[in-house]
Amino acid sequence: MKHLIAPSLLSANFLDLRKEVEMINKSDADWLHLDIMDGVFVPNISFGFPVLNALKPMCRKPMDVHLMIVEPQKFIPEVAATGAYMMNVHYEACTHLHRTVAAIKEAGMKAGVTLNPHTPICLLEDIIQDVDMVLLMSVNPGFGGQRFIEHSVEKVARLREMIDRKGLDTLIEVDGGVNLDTGKRLVDAGANVLVAGNFVFSSPDPEQTIKDLKAL
Ligand code: DX5
Ligand code: ZN
Repeated sequence: MKHLIAPSLLSANFLDLRKEVEMINKSDADWLHLDIMDGVFVPNISFGFPVLNALKPMCRKPMDVHLMIVEPQKFIPEVAATGAYMMNVHYEACTHLHRTVAAIKEAGMKAGVTLNPHTPICLLEDIIQDVDMVLLMSVNPGFGGQRFIEHSVEKVARLREMIDRKGLDTLIEVDGGVNLDTGKRLVDAGANVLVAGNFVFSSPDPEQTIKDLKAL
């Protein structure tokens, strides 16, 4: 399977979101990645459901929602109402992850489980068969434009090994510090989806940058 590209709206121009989403619609992007932060789980606050609901009628790419919040299970109906394709919750934020994953699927969405950089892959052994995607953080969540944590490449390879060993088709998404160099190494290690914020939106030609990431 050719890898997918999910530009992260966090680095877009918030004064001109319509233009940014039009660019995403026209581009080779596969998904639109949306980062929701609560100032508790991560030391930053981004945007929430009013923004996602405003995007809903105009965004033609599946919405990949990344919740960096405590108790994400409380917001499953709200996320589903935005028309989200994928709902990603953090492993570190879910006491009853199995129940939360089931509830996300019952609400009609794909279920993604996200790991912080320090959280080991082996903790997924007894849940991975139930999840549609694992989102590996390659920076500490909370901000765009941070430096890629090199260890993430090896982590992707180990997760790929676990998924293949179990005969699953779980997707691997990587988020943080993705550019042409890190992106290539992540895809070679077995990543299926690359999130890219700063690299796309700070480039002189974001549409071409998405194409370049897609061509890796
Ligand atoms: C960080 C967010 C990312 C962020 C990635 O907490 O989860 O999705 O937008 O940004 P870049 O690609 O700039 O590292
Ligand atoms: Zn994200």
